[in-house]
Amino acid sequence: MNLRAVKGMKDILPDEISKWHRLESAFRQRVEGYGFREARFPIVEPTALFVRSIGETTDIVEKEMYTFTDRGDKSLTLRPEGTASSVRAFVQHSVQAREPVTKWYYVGPMYRRERPAKGRYRQFYQAGIEVFGDPGPFIDAEVIDMVVGVISTLGITEVEVLVNSIGGPEARENYRVALLAYLAPYRAELCADCQRRVDANPLRVLDCKVPRCAEIAADAPSILKHLTDDDRAHFDGLQETLTILGTPYRVDGSLVRGLDYYTRTLFEVLGKGEGLGAQNALLGGGRYDQMVKSFGGPDTPAIGFAMGLERLLMAMPESEPDSHVDVFIVAAQAGVRGEATLLGRELRDAGLRVESDLRGGSLKSQLRRADKINTRIAMILGEEEVEEGVVQLKDLQNKTQDKVPRAEAAQRVHALLSE
Ligand code: HAM
Repeated sequence: MNLRAVKGMKDILPDEISKWHRLESAFRQRVEGYGFREARFPIVEPTALFVRSIGETTDIVEKEMYTFTDRGDKSLTLRPEGTASSVRAFVQHSVQAREPVTKWYYVGPMYRRERPAKGRYRQFYQAGIEVFGDPGPFIDAEVIDMVVGVISTLGITEVEVLVNSIGGPEARENYRVALLAYLAPYRAELCADCQRRVDANPLRVLDCKVPRCAEIAADAPSILKHLTDDDRAHFDGLQETLTILGTPYRVDGSLVRGLDYYTRTLFEVLGKGEGLGAQNALLGGGRYDQMVKSFGGPDTPAIGFAMGLERLLMAMPESEPDSHVDVFIVAAQAGVRGEATLLGRELRDAGLRVESDLRGGSLKSQLRRADKINTRIAMILGEEEVEEGVVQLKDLQNKTQDKVPRAEAAQRVHALLSE
């Protein structure tokens, strides 16, 4: 039997994991600095949750969801994104009764049955945030500035921040009428999907990747001309705040994004560096002021974004591989292997990460192994050392060796590592 991972889904093996950890901890550290707290939601949700929030005529709902019937008769779906679950949980637990503004973050796998490509997978990881209860526009600018901060701590320098506003329901309705009028003469030239969706949701045409649809969309009227005065003031406020923060951005009136729940602010950060290929959207987000209410909660404005972790990893510069341990214990003779096991526990109790090869082997082969895994320090223990209560501490980086009392060994390693 030739069992392999599902197409579009990848194993992440330990050699890659330190880069993931670096990315995730940079994200956590930065967003916790803004008062965000982690929430964890189920990976499986009722299908209706996504249909009603992301929208029936979106690619995600029409083509990409992993939906199945469980052993009862419930239709369940592997989550394609995290915003819908956040809103469900916010409403389900009446979180608004506890705090005026709620700031959550999450990290985890999402599932979309898209055509696999470089930077596009069927299981991929997102790190996202959601803010409930603040109508903006200052929080909108702060959230955008925050994510630009995450990206720059990761060493990713070549990015472009795009912002747009699609207004509230009134602007959307006015725009829908104008857009339908513009699209009318091109109807027959649109792709089959767009022809089918155009009446229900003409905005989807602007997001279509089919070349002829994209050409038609390029000359469509701009939604920015249809904003109400309040929408316009909100968007101006966002831009003024980004300017105060010194966050570079570009207004892109054609940015609509592929999910239906958005209102007003939309943004995306594109990676400009090589190596990303066509899937260069590092993250996307926006405001969704109607969604909590439409899920039966109180009228609560909200904004959030999600970053694609695989894409950020591709854009991050390479760095020296770290070793997964601090010390490698080498047993000089077979007879001291028990004592070497005890030494390992002593060092671990003192907070060090320690490896050894308990199978034994020659001194040389054990040292080679220490070198191979990039360990900074090898600690050699032989019969004489056990007798004297010492260890040989070999600094593999500085190529020095010292005889150290066993009771002080851990302290010496800590001192070397913090130099
Ligand atoms: P999204 O634009 O669908 O937004 O996804 C956000 C990011 O997830 C993308 O910019 C991309 O980096 C990554 N991503 C999406 N699909 C894939 C894929 N198939 N393979 C690899 N990476 C992918 C959302 O999901 C919204 N929930 C964001 C949001 C939060 N809006 C408000 N709050």
